[in-house]
Amino acid sequence: MLLSIIIPTFNERGNVQLIVERVEAAMKDSTSDYEIWFVDDSRDDTPIILEGLANSHPQVHYLHRENGRGLATAVVEGFSRAAGQYFIVMDADLQHPPELLPTILERLQEGTDVVIPSRFVRGGSDGGLNPFRKIVSWTARVIGRLAISRIRRISDCTGGYFGLSREVVADAKLNPIGWKILLEILVKGQYQTVHEIPYEFHTRDVGESKMNTREQWNYIRHIVRLVAESPEDRRLYLFAMVGALGVVVNLVAMSVLLYGLHVRPTMVASILASLVAMLHNFLWNDKVTWKAHAHPVKWRRMMQMPMFMLVSLVGIGITALFAQWFTLMGSKELIGQCLGIIVATGWSFVANNRITWRT
Ligand code: GDD
Ligand code: MN
Repeated sequence: MLLSIIIPTFNERGNVQLIVERVEAAMKDSTSDYEIWFVDDSRDDTPIILEGLANSHPQVHYLHRENGRGLATAVVEGFSRAAGQYFIVMDADLQHPPELLPTILERLQEGTDVVIPSRFVRGGSDGGLNPFRKIVSWTARVIGRLAISRIRRISDCTGGYFGLSREVVADAKLNPIGWKILLEILVKGQYQTVHEIPYEFHTRDVGESKMNTREQWNYIRHIVRLVAESPEDRRLYLFAMVGALGVVVNLVAMSVLLYGLHVRPTMVASILASLVAMLHNFLWNDKVTWKAHAHPVKWRRMMQMPMFMLVSLVGIGITALFAQWFTLMGSKELIGQCLGIIVATGWSFVANNRITWRT
């Protein structure tokens, strides 16, 4: 079997027959053998119609799940049933034009691991969404691309139309929440090449969209989980947490030095406290944030701590410049200091990532 087309359905009684016909028409010139797997969570009579379709079309299969567990898990279930060398996932409501199937398949056969029809490359359009959904969809993409580096260069990472080679997900532990199965695959799948091709997202003629605020909330939960599970994406947050913990350590050390050990002058206590905090931050970052990046060469490894301190010192310099700059402009020093801390955190993260731990 060359191709498995996987179609999740939820109350699509008016669409399933139409999409089978459109897929057949689109694939008629293609000599390849293919199957269609509907994974259905419907509460209406869609499964009865699917049963009829499966009986009259040898290439149509369906699986009905009694207590529907959402779009993304339906697709995962489809993968486990599908026999094809390539998988294409699409919606049932004809918003994703089946006419594109042969092109997607062709690209996959040429060796592209993941092929994504995109609404946002030249020639594509997302005419099928109302203005409100367009804004929601745009926001979702921005959040996703900011949070997850592997999808940063992909213009349509939240769509439900995509093709992939079976190997991409063969060993992936897919465990999505909600709708965005493509995100899950792009983060956890095994692939080298991703191509986007333009398509026009049509309006829905029959039935209605099942998107709702619960799914939007699920999207956020899904992103948070993907970031937590992805070593390269969670680093920034770990780094920020270590930094925040470092402030507490700094203040505790300063109190001990000042009031316990009576170190004077204050400046000396302050510098010592900062050094303790720096050491503390280094250890956590070395053991947790960049855990997998300890340098294999011993002398290079020894250089990591001084490097970290150098980066931190530059950060202190950056913060001081901001505080001074705001003072000169006649605005609040503390605002300058805050802004400086944010910029310095950004700087030290990037510098440590690139230089100290060389990821
Ligand atoms: N099995 C199953 N279970 N299928 C579901 C479920 C579910 O809980 N919820 C929705 N589906 C099916 C629908 O029947 C349809 O075939 C497909 O998933 C997409 O649902 P729609 O309700 O049509 O979503 P939409 O048009 O608002 O948004 C779609 O298109 C956007 C653009 O590609 C989705 O695919 C979005 O993820 C996508 O961004
Ligand atoms: Mn739709």
